[in-house]
Amino acid sequence: MHHILRAQQFDGPALNKLFHQTRHIKKALTDPEQKRALRSTFPDKSFYYLFAEPSTRTRTSFQKAATNLGMETMGTENAKDFSSMVKGETLEHSIRVILGNGFDVIAIRHSDNGAADRAAAVCDDCGFNTAIVNAGDGTSQHPTQALLDLFTIHEKFEQIDGLTVVIGGDLAHGRTARSLAYLLSKFRVKLIFVSTPELTVGEDIQAHLNERQIDFRLETKVEDAVPEADVVYWTRFQRERAGDSLAGSPHVITLGTMALFKPEAILLHPLPIVGEIAHEVDSHRQAYYFQQSDNGLPIRMALFQSILSAQD
Ligand code: NCD
Repeated sequence: MHHILRAQQFDGPALNKLFHQTRHIKKALTDPEQKRALRSTFPDKSFYYLFAEPSTRTRTSFQKAATNLGMETMGTENAKDFSSMVKGETLEHSIRVILGNGFDVIAIRHSDNGAADRAAAVCDDCGFNTAIVNAGDGTSQHPTQALLDLFTIHEKFEQIDGLTVVIGGDLAHGRTARSLAYLLSKFRVKLIFVSTPELTVGEDIQAHLNERQIDFRLETKVEDAVPEADVVYWTRFQRERAGDSLAGSPHVITLGTMALFKPEAILLHPLPIVGEIAHEVDSHRQAYYFQQSDNGLPIRMALFQSILSAQD
C-alpha cells in the first residue's frame, strides 16, 4: 500500500488489518496518556493537503489525524483560488513543486476524474517516495470515505458478509457511493441501488458487480428497497457536477421512511446533507451519520500508520 487512489486496492486482509488498527486507535484516543504517546509516532514525517474543491470533514480529519500522530502538517484548502492553479498552473507542475519540499504524504482533492492518478504518476516519474492519497477526484472515487463508511458498518454488525445495503441518491455523480460499491463488492453482500433513472449507478460499477457475481438490483422507489436493508447509505444531489437540468433531488428520508427500517438497520450518509434527510431524523436512534463522520479521524490515523510504516 503506497498511493491510495481507489477503493479496489483494498482486499479482505488489508481491510481487516486497517479496521483492527482503527479500533485500537479509537480506544487509545479516549485515554489521555495513550493519546499523548501517539503524538510521538511520526515526529519526522510531514503531510500536505492540496484541496481544490470544498471540504469540511475530509480536510479537517486528515489534518487532525496527521497532527495526532505528531506529523508536520500544512496545505491549501482552496487551491483553485489561492494556489498558482489560479494563474493556470497545471496540476502536474503544482504537484511537482509541492513534492520538491519533501512531504511524506500528500492528500489531493480535485474536480477532475483521475487527478490523484496524475499526481501519483508525477511522483513516481520524478522518483519521489511520497504517497499520494485520493481525497476525492471528480465523479470518480473517494476511497478514504468508503473506508470509514465500511468501518462504520463493520463496527455495527461485526461483519460485512450477509448484509443487504441500499445505496441511494445521486449515484451518477456521487464518488463516495461508487467507492463504497467497489469496497462492498469484496464481500458476499446484496446491493440495492435507489435513484431516479437519470441518476442511476454507472455501467462500470454494474459491470464490476456482475464480474464479481454480486447480487444487486436497481430501484427507483425508496420504499421498494428500505424494508430489506441492514444499511441505507443515502447521498445528496451533486448540483455542482450534474448542473440544474437534472435537479429533482433524491427522495427525502423522513421519519416516515425511518419507520420502514428493520429495527437494527442503520442510516448512513457521507455528508453534507442538503435536504435529502429531514432534520428531525438526526436524533433518530438509527441515524448513524455523525458516528460515521467521527470515524474519519481514527481511520485516517490508521491509514497514515499503514502508509508510513510501508515507506520505511
Ligand atoms: C463527499 C465528497 O466530497 O465526495 N463529502 C465527503 O468527503 N464526506 C460527499 C459530497 O460532497 O456529497
